Amino acid sequence: MEQQANGASSFASAVSLDQLGMSSIPQRYVLPPSQRPSPHIPISTTLPIIDLSSLRDQSLVSRSTINEIRIACKEIGCFQVYIAPAKFEYAPNVINHGIDQSVMDEALEVATEFFNLPNDEKMSLFSEDVHKPVRYGTSLNQARDEVYCWRDFIKHYSHPISDWIHMWPSNPSNYRENMGKYVKAVQTLQNQLLEIIFESLGLNSNYLHEEINGGSQTLAVNCYPACPEPDLTLGIHPHSDYGSITMLLQTRSGLEIKDKNNNWMPVPFVEGALVVQLGDQMEVMSNGQYKSVIHRATVNGDEKRFSIVSLHSFAMDRKMGPAVELVDEQHPKSYKEFCFREFLDFISCNDITKGRFLDTLKMSKP
Ligand code: OGA
Ligand code: NI
Repeated sequence: MEQQANGASSFASAVSLDQLGMSSIPQRYVLPPSQRPSPHIPISTTLPIIDLSSLRDQSLVSRSTINEIRIACKEIGCFQVYIAPAKFEYAPNVINHGIDQSVMDEALEVATEFFNLPNDEKMSLFSEDVHKPVRYGTSLNQARDEVYCWRDFIKHYSHPISDWIHMWPSNPSNYRENMGKYVKAVQTLQNQLLEIIFESLGLNSNYLHEEINGGSQTLAVNCYPACPEPDLTLGIHPHSDYGSITMLLQTRSGLEIKDKNNNWMPVPFVEGALVVQLGDQMEVMSNGQYKSVIHRATVNGDEKRFSIVSLHSFAMDRKMGPAVELVDEQHPKSYKEFCFREFLDFISCNDITKGRFLDTLKMSKP
């Protein structure tokens, strides 16, 4: 089996390996023992689940919610948000607050259908070039990863949507419509969340408003097939995301984050909730007050898992650095400026399991 999987072509996606019905995974997916997912030790930290229902009717987010978010950002760099279903019919012009369950379900539906397509169809979007705005692939960086991870993905640029939607998959036929609705809703939510996060840092909630509106959004739609040997491999290697924040919708548990004590902590699956993770840009912008969260995905032996991951950042060539308001004598500037393109250049030349991009930005104390 192994021979067949590795030798058939240079590309064997995790989904296509799953379809072969193997009882073991090819050697290329087997992690060294120290990097394998381990049985969990009891967790001392709990991941907050924050109710953002007040965003639905444009009422202000309370001080206590801002405080909850501040603590989650400072302590963990990750939290879940939940928006209770609307209890009332709001005036029709009050839209775009919260993401309806049906929008999330319909996005997951087309994600599932996409990965069920015949291999040839998906391969028409295949690329190893991390700079491509739309690409289908496997592992994390197939061209660089020494050990592959057990996932397939379709990634596409998503904001402003009119620039990109014509390049997205056209099959299933409702992919663009369903994913488009989700992408717009999540973009609105990230604007609102960033305002809250900036406030929680003591910055103006309108901080870099223009840059954020003109920023980039990349959607990574991931499929982690059931795996015959889930203890030997991972769905995605440990990494932090490059952007300001990431919002993740998942169909079951599997995501794990590294806590302050360097322990892996599973993120529980909460129906209707989105996981919010801080990325490298937020660590840089906050001058290290908030840290980007290192995370990975495990796989399981029973069922496929899907996630839809929305990565938000400043525009491709817009350099950003620590907010000047957060730099003073006690808190000297600790990171160099960077832009999204520099991150892409980094990952196209490096195996990110061997060194973090963020570490290349850290400045030594004067
Ligand atoms: C990612 C990611 C984790 C998951 O796509 O950057 O971290 O659970 N995904 O899908
Ligand atoms: Ni990630």
